[in-house]
Amino acid sequence: MIQVDVKKISKSFPGVKALDEVSLSFFPGKVNALLGENGAGKSTLLKILTGTYTKYQGSILLNGQTARFQNVREAQKAGIAHIHQELNLIPQLTVAENLFLGREVRNAFGLLDTAEMNRQTKAMLEKLRLEVSPQTPVRRLKVGEQQLVEIAKALLSDPAVIFMDEPTSALSDAEINNLHQIIASLKKEGKTIVYISHKMEELFRIADHYSVLRDGALTGSGNMEDTSEQELIRMMVGRDVQIEPKTTTHLVEETVLQISDLHLQHPYVKQRKVLQNISFDLKRGEILGIFGLMGAGRTELLETIFGLHTSRSSYSLEIEGRSYEFSSPQAAIKNGLAFVTEDRKVEGLVLGLDVASNISLPTLQQRFFLKSRGEKDLARSYIERLGIKTPSERQLCRNLSGGNQQKVVLAKWLSTQPKILFMDEPTRGIDIKAKQEIYDLMKKLADEGLSIILVSSEIPEILTLCDRILVMAEGRLTANYSASEADEDKLLKAALPV
Ligand SMILES: Nc1ncnc2c1ncn2[C@@H]1O[C@H](COP(=O)(O)OP(=O)(O)OP(=O)(O)O)[C@@H](O)[C@H]1O
Ligand SMILES: [Mg+2]
Repeated sequence: MIQVDVKKISKSFPGVKALDEVSLSFFPGKVNALLGENGAGKSTLLKILTGTYTKYQGSILLNGQTARFQNVREAQKAGIAHIHQELNLIPQLTVAENLFLGREVRNAFGLLDTAEMNRQTKAMLEKLRLEVSPQTPVRRLKVGEQQLVEIAKALLSDPAVIFMDEPTSALSDAEINNLHQIIASLKKEGKTIVYISHKMEELFRIADHYSVLRDGALTGSGNMEDTSEQELIRMMVGRDVQIEPKTTTHLVEETVLQISDLHLQHPYVKQRKVLQNISFDLKRGEILGIFGLMGAGRTELLETIFGLHTSRSSYSLEIEGRSYEFSSPQAAIKNGLAFVTEDRKVEGLVLGLDVASNISLPTLQQRFFLKSRGEKDLARSYIERLGIKTPSERQLCRNLSGGNQQKVVLAKWLSTQPKILFMDEPTRGIDIKAKQEIYDLMKKLADEGLSIILVSSEIPEILTLCDRILVMAEGRLTANYSASEADEDKLLKAALPV
């Protein structure tokens, strides 16, 4: 059992004081929640405690003994595991190869013992109730499954301290419940679990102790049972946050997008269909929600309309009464569509480019004559509008906090001034205040005439924002509710496979 004490840790990046004399403790046999707004310093603290960053002021004590890790391996040797906020797997390698990367098991002859590695991987996958084969290449897995592989990788060395940086942001409800059970048993074994999440109800379900960071400084800590959601939000944000439901509904019933008879074939199994017989319309200024369980086909639906699966799909598409066939996403963008995707690291952002370049990326072709001055102004206006926390528009996106990267993705698509905006889980990993800001922005844009399709697994998000809600199950539409008709029960019922 290891107690971790952080003593006066400070860490600066050029133009940013990420941590400012932070002192706090993480206790064994407990789930220690670490809370704070996007950019508050949570991930930075974890990276210091796990040997990723070696330059900082202050000290780390493990059971009272000072520890100073020179690299990640030293931290691992001391019994510390780190589940990163961003997925760190190698897509081309199999699940087993990813798990044993850098710590391969060898037999008596010094050869790789693939059978043994597969066996251990299989046991770990079973423990996490992840039904994939150890030999599956990671790129074939969905984001949620990849997240579980990441967790499996961390648990493999049987660590005493486990740092989890937003482990559930990409998981379905069933997967989250499953992970919570695993955490409960790790806790019983006396492990020290440090848990970052922006989902309050989850923290109240599993956490025992909390520490709150705000602008790099500790603003509070204590037992979860002695605090409330409102109190924690105040420590994080410095004021109360109220999320108001969308009130104005559009009076014009003008159809902007009409989709008819959409079908999508399975990529490998010829006879199977991923999407079947989908027809719906979208009005001007409407926020249309699409609810469904993971695997229902929601992301695939948006991707198909966006011109990403042309060889496997068939459908008819009209925008403002005119028929189109998009042979590529570029064609869709040109005709007024934009798509904030689910996984910002893979599809949304170029992490090695700065904020300004990312924001102007989709409009580059149309505006190449604008050069960097226009790019800078554009970036600055979005940094202000969305409250993106960055020292300047020239900061590399890699150096932004996770939530702020998500805001850059949103800015990038808004800068194309679309007629129709697709948003796939847009507030994943976004703190509660930024969430409110994004919701307000969506409502304002809809009032100005933008039509939005919102895919979300969060029922409260769907219910507060949407004018109308479609439900999908197993690749089909199963319900179409107006905002006033819909409630949690109805949505869940329609989402269950029959
Ligand atoms: N490598 C880096 N270079 C420069 N600045 C950085 C770097 N890493 C983090 N920062 C900055 O330090 C601050 C803290 O970032 P951190 O990633 O720790 O936030 P966080 O609390 O994890 O936020 P989120 O909830 O969005 O993940 C932010 O302002 C961020 O932009
Ligand atoms: Mg973070």
